[in-house]
Amino acid sequence: MTRTNLMLCASLAALGFAASAANADKLTLYCSAEEEWCQAMARGFEDATGIDVNMTRKSSGETFAQLRAEASNPKGDVWWGGTGDPHLQAAEEGLSQEYISPMRDQLHPWAIAQAESAGNKTIGIYSGALGYGYNNDLLAANNLPEPACWKDLLKPEYKGHVQMANPNSSGTAYTTLASMVQLFGEDEGFEFMKGLHANINQYTKSGSAPIKAAGRGETTIGIVFMHDAVAQAVAGFPVTVVAPCEGTGYEIGSMSIIEGARNLEEAQKFYDWALSAEAQNLALEANSYQLMSNVNAQSSDKAPDMSKIKLIDYDFVKYGSSDERKRLLQKWDEEVSVLPQ
Ligand code: F6P
Repeated sequence: MTRTNLMLCASLAALGFAASAANADKLTLYCSAEEEWCQAMARGFEDATGIDVNMTRKSSGETFAQLRAEASNPKGDVWWGGTGDPHLQAAEEGLSQEYISPMRDQLHPWAIAQAESAGNKTIGIYSGALGYGYNNDLLAANNLPEPACWKDLLKPEYKGHVQMANPNSSGTAYTTLASMVQLFGEDEGFEFMKGLHANINQYTKSGSAPIKAAGRGETTIGIVFMHDAVAQAVAGFPVTVVAPCEGTGYEIGSMSIIEGARNLEEAQKFYDWALSAEAQNLALEANSYQLMSNVNAQSSDKAPDMSKIKLIDYDFVKYGSSDERKRLLQKWDEEVSVLPQ
């Protein structure tokens, strides 16, 4: 081959490569679970299908706000993970689109109920109960009693020792707010949030941050989903997990295809794959201890046993509705977050 021919071949190969890269199947994934699990899902889907995944992780409320901001020019294809309430609000506001997956008959009824309540614009992928965790060493070092109930957290001796996320950015913290309103009634629920505010040392952006901080010894108590506290204990931190004595709320972690998705075919492929037992078992490799929605998915023996936790009958339709979520967040902003500490 002459030098000219060689150069021609090289440029054609380069052109061919560029053309196939431009046409390569791709997916833009917005993820609201833990970073490690989000990465495992993105890489797992790439391995299973050869479709390139561009993933970003943000908390549930933040991702909802991003969907709304991008509504006239959507950039994401699938929103996977995060608490169900903002997914339901997205469905109501036309930010996600209907899809009925052939995988649906493999799911627990609670996952399908979530879909049916939202015109099939979202679906349940996992579930987990709200609670809190504390750092055993810090509790002992500060001579604090072991808390067992929600109302224990209002005791003056816990001042500066409790951390939770901000309910505007975090689905975990919104679940906390909505759970207290359902558990104690609206007036008493808000009184609880105000009392709690007096003991809070910091409102974080992400829901699991408070228990990671507790694990590191930066706060004594973190209000989180119990599975996130379990993850810290399993990782070797001195964390005790509490299912509050009064009962507690829970989440149906959800997935939605974004309205106007540019890669719709890939989005539906991801959706089907994410509902399979094989994909859901990736949770076990990513230190995630939720109960999965596929009946054949395995759950860790370290996962909190939902059947032994006193759960409220969380009204997802009401607390995931646009009006109610906006109203509760505004009330928390105006009546709780502004109070002196
Ligand atoms: O993956 C951990 C997790 O607690 C999920 O169970 C939940 O859906 C999500 O994080 C909520 O995160 P955030 O509170 O940051 O929105």
